[in-house]
This record gives sequence, C-alpha cells and structure tokens, in this order.
Amino acid sequence: MMKTKRVFLTRILHDFALKELKKQYEVEVHSGKIPIPRKKLESKIKDIEGLICFPYDVIDSKLLENAKNLKIISTYSVGFDHIDTKYAKKNKIRVGYTPEVLTDATADLAFSLMIDVMRRVSEGDRIIRKGNWSQIYGAYDYIGTDLQEKTLGIFGLGRIGSTLAKRAKSFDMKIIYNNRKRVSKTKEKSLGVKYVTFDKLIRQSDIISIHVPHTSQTDKLFDKKILKKMKKTAFLINTARGKIINEKDLIEALKKKTISGAALDVFESEPIGKNHPLTRIQNITLAPHIGSSTKETRVKMAEITVKNLHLGINGKKPKYSVGY
Ligand code: DGY
Repeated sequence: MMKTKRVFLTRILHDFALKELKKQYEVEVHSGKIPIPRKKLESKIKDIEGLICFPYDVIDSKLLENAKNLKIISTYSVGFDHIDTKYAKKNKIRVGYTPEVLTDATADLAFSLMIDVMRRVSEGDRIIRKGNWSQIYGAYDYIGTDLQEKTLGIFGLGRIGSTLAKRAKSFDMKIIYNNRKRVSKTKEKSLGVKYVTFDKLIRQSDIISIHVPHTSQTDKLFDKKILKKMKKTAFLINTARGKIINEKDLIEALKKKTISGAALDVFESEPIGKNHPLTRIQNITLAPHIGSSTKETRVKMAEITVKNLHLGINGKKPKYSVGY
C-alpha cells in the first residue's frame, strides 16, 4: 500500500503509537530541541495532513495559514489553549484532544499536592536533605493543617473537579464549588457539593483548587486582588494552567503570608529553573507538570491521540473533538 498521507509529531510518542501510525502514514518525528523550533514547525506544517502536538506547542493562526493540507491537529493533552481552535474550525481543520482518560490521574495529583502542602511533606524533605532536622518530635515542630472539616473550594466542576470532590468527600471535607454553569441538583447531591458565587468561593475556602481552562476570562485571574480576599490560612492548588495565576502576585502573597501556602503543577512559563523566585519560597510545593503523568494514563492518552488522528485525517470527527 502506498502511504500518501503525511503525519508529523513534534515529539516522540510511545513505540506502539508510532508503529500504529507508520502502518498507514508517512511519519516524521521531531527530535532535538523541545519545544520544536518555530521555523522547523512552520516548514513542516506546509506539507502534512496530520499533526500530533503537545500542550506547549503554539499552534496559532499564523502557523496554520500555511497548513494547506492539514486535516487534523491531535494534541496529546486535555488542554487545548495552545491551539487556535477557532481558526482551525473556520479552515476545516479538526482538533482532537484527550479528556476522560487523565481525569483520575490529574485529580489524584491535585489531591496529593493539597495533602503535601498542608502537611508540609516536601518542605520536610527539603529540611532533611539540607541537614536541618536537628531535634525530634517537638510539640510545635513542622506543624501542618488537618484536611478533615476544612472547606475545599473547587473552581471548575468539570470532570477533574468532580473527581477531586469524590476524593475530598472521603476525607470528610466540606466542598463548595463555582462553575460557569451550576451543575444539576442530582450531581450536587451525589458529589456532596454546594454551589457558591466566585466571590464566596474565594472568601470561604480553606483550600482552593483550580480546574478551569485557560481562556481570556481566566487569564491571570488569581491576582493580588483575589489573593487578598482569600483566608490568611488558605492554600491555593493549581493543576490546570499556570497562566490562570499571576505568579508575581502569588509570590508576593506567599512571602507576605497573605495566604498560607500553595502547590503548583503548572507555571506561567515552563519549565522553570532552580533560580526561579518560586523555588526560594518554603510554603509552596512545586511539581513539573505531571498531572497526567502515570504510565497507565499516558498509554491511554497515546491511544486516543492516535485514534483522533486516524479519524480526523480520514475526514471523520475525532473520538474527542474540539469544535467539529
Ligand atoms: C493536559 O493534558 O492538558 C495536562 O496539562 C497534562 O498534565
């Protein structure tokens, strides 16, 4: 069989996924600098029918203007804020993404970050590694905060937010949420959550966990003004997108103890290096964008990424499709 359709991947994917793609398409994988240099992507996009990309690849309209043959952009992520989906739709380029399969993994990470920062686990690890654990078991040593009976405020009650609520319920937490649209009473009841306005969520929560996409409405939403409204004892958890928080304002809030702590899996710009100002703050846990990073989940994401690509390149709607 002559392979006429060309697929380009901006980074290596699992072997099984590449094998599957190579059965039907002419496949090229970018190796070398990550993210792929813009110029290279600009030149590749001209000839291909299918693109597999990652959440840090900027797939904007300027790039897509040259994508004359492109039928499908299949991103290996649930987030698609890196893709100009409006332009893609207008130009009949389908966009596939990978929701559902990473819901548990991401909710688990949000929950573990919450426990970590509230019980100061990573902070303790840093103390030991620096050789600063000098006395055992003092009444006031390394005091954390209980989760039980605390109010968890979930910002965005989609798949991941809802799954986090289930985790929190079994830890006897009170759960409030804010979402663009209030969910059904049945869902509220089964999850044990109460709808509140955004302002109440900010003021009443002992912990706020962010689970909304990054859009023009959520860009830098958590800024000085919002952080100031939070309880002094509160924690902020972000496993969604870094740009939802104004990092400079968060650093100041943590230094001044405007809030008690934070745990971040995502950052304004990634990766962050060891000299980033966030690394000099103690009341924060940092993770290198690992929300979906379990072996089981990443395999499922690769399967869906390939499936979405197959469907889209053949003129069909991807299994998980943005737009059309
Ligand atoms: C995604 O899939 O968008 C997540 O950020 C990965 O952890």
